[in-house]
Amino acid sequence: METQIRNRLVLIPPPFQGHITPMLQLATILHSKGFSITIAHDNFNSPNPSNHPNFSFLPLFYGLSETQISSKNFVDITATLNAKCVSPLKELLVDQIEKANMNHEKIACVIYDGLMYSIESVARELKLASIILRVTCATNLLTYHAVVQRQSTDCMSLDMVPELEPLGFKDLPMLNSHVMQQQIAKTLAVRPSLGVIYNTVNCLEGKSLHRLHELYKVNVFPIGPLHMIAEDSSSSSCVEEDYSCIGWLNNQATKSVLYVSLGSIASWDEKELTEVAWGLANSKQKFLWVIRPGTINDVSEWLESLPKEVKVAIEERGCIVKWAPQREVLAHQGVGGFWSHCGWNSTLESLCEGVPIMCQPHFGDQGVNARLLSRVWKVGLEWSNVIERNEVERAVRRLMVNEEGKEMAQRAFKLKNEIKLAVKAGSSYDALNGMVDSILSVNL
Ligand code: UDX
Repeated sequence: METQIRNRLVLIPPPFQGHITPMLQLATILHSKGFSITIAHDNFNSPNPSNHPNFSFLPLFYGLSETQISSKNFVDITATLNAKCVSPLKELLVDQIEKANMNHEKIACVIYDGLMYSIESVARELKLASIILRVTCATNLLTYHAVVQRQSTDCMSLDMVPELEPLGFKDLPMLNSHVMQQQIAKTLAVRPSLGVIYNTVNCLEGKSLHRLHELYKVNVFPIGPLHMIAEDSSSSSCVEEDYSCIGWLNNQATKSVLYVSLGSIASWDEKELTEVAWGLANSKQKFLWVIRPGTINDVSEWLESLPKEVKVAIEERGCIVKWAPQREVLAHQGVGGFWSHCGWNSTLESLCEGVPIMCQPHFGDQGVNARLLSRVWKVGLEWSNVIERNEVERAVRRLMVNEEGKEMAQRAFKLKNEIKLAVKAGSSYDALNGMVDSILSVNL
């Protein structure tokens, strides 16, 4: 009797939390569709294999362990990753192809993160099918396309970008270093053989997805939000989550708490943290605040240094943790608003739970996400973005107390239901099946 050949996928995330999380969610989804899964990852920010017993994990070292990842050196780190991954990845894949042959398996496709553009050359050389996973929104890609197409001086204009309205020229990314310009050009030039997965939903970004397909003539698979489709909810967090905040939330009134978190890279300095503490205290709202280790030297010492009235307000109305189980937090009935840096994962997680956002973009795609939230979907609050206690207090009250915040919450609730529908039986469901078919059809 002929033994059936199993299809194995090799997935390659870069070592950043905001990129590892969606890649592991995608892996979970594809495993449920019958594929065997290998994750090739760095030892820095390494995922915890015991949370994913069905996957094989293989080390692919980039030598980043000594490097402090921050928004300031993100571009350089990405350039280093691309330069360093090619030769070890080739070795790893050659080895995997051999092992697969011995085990009645086949490497059916390599799925890599959009930041890791140099992987395409390896896939081609080894004649492996390839797919890119883009973990930012589709519109973000179009903003890069718009910048590359125009003279940089245009970007100073206050006008709208015709093909991206309501985004203006000032919302376009600034490519302010040669390394960054090179990286963007390379990212846009990559043509994976099977297509590009976007962690987005047609009802959020249908127009942008259509345009990307027209421009690049590569299949687009809008299979989002990945965290909703991945039925297995095992944690992909690189940092231990502090569940004590869920107990604290259980004791709060419905929709009374503002959740404050800037994701895994962006941060406030000590002076800004103090202004935020004052603003939150003066807003008189309840808050759950994530202050990551490394943001300042000693959080307890800083808390101790605050004036008594702020300390009392934090004790009475606040809960501070180092890292929260964010999806559970956003799904909790006690949470009524999210002060976010608008990373795409946080944005999607909030949209899926119908939680309106106070937008404070820091870098990269976050500005575009904030514009979409505030101007297109109208579930995000645009404010002065000045970290000063009175500005913070005003913005928090606008979101949590005022009529405009309530209207945003109603729209967010509607959007949440549209997204649910897309996942259950609509566009995301169809896109996933389409992608699985195209992997299987090249591996017949
Ligand atoms: C990075 C970029 O900064 C972002 O702009 C891009 O869209 C994705 O990659 P990051 O800054 O970490 O990501 O933000 P985000 O995309 O929001 O991802 C953060 C992830 O960490 C989310 O999945 C969130 O649920 C999780 N998280 C965050 C926690 O689990 N606990 C926390 O306390 C904070």
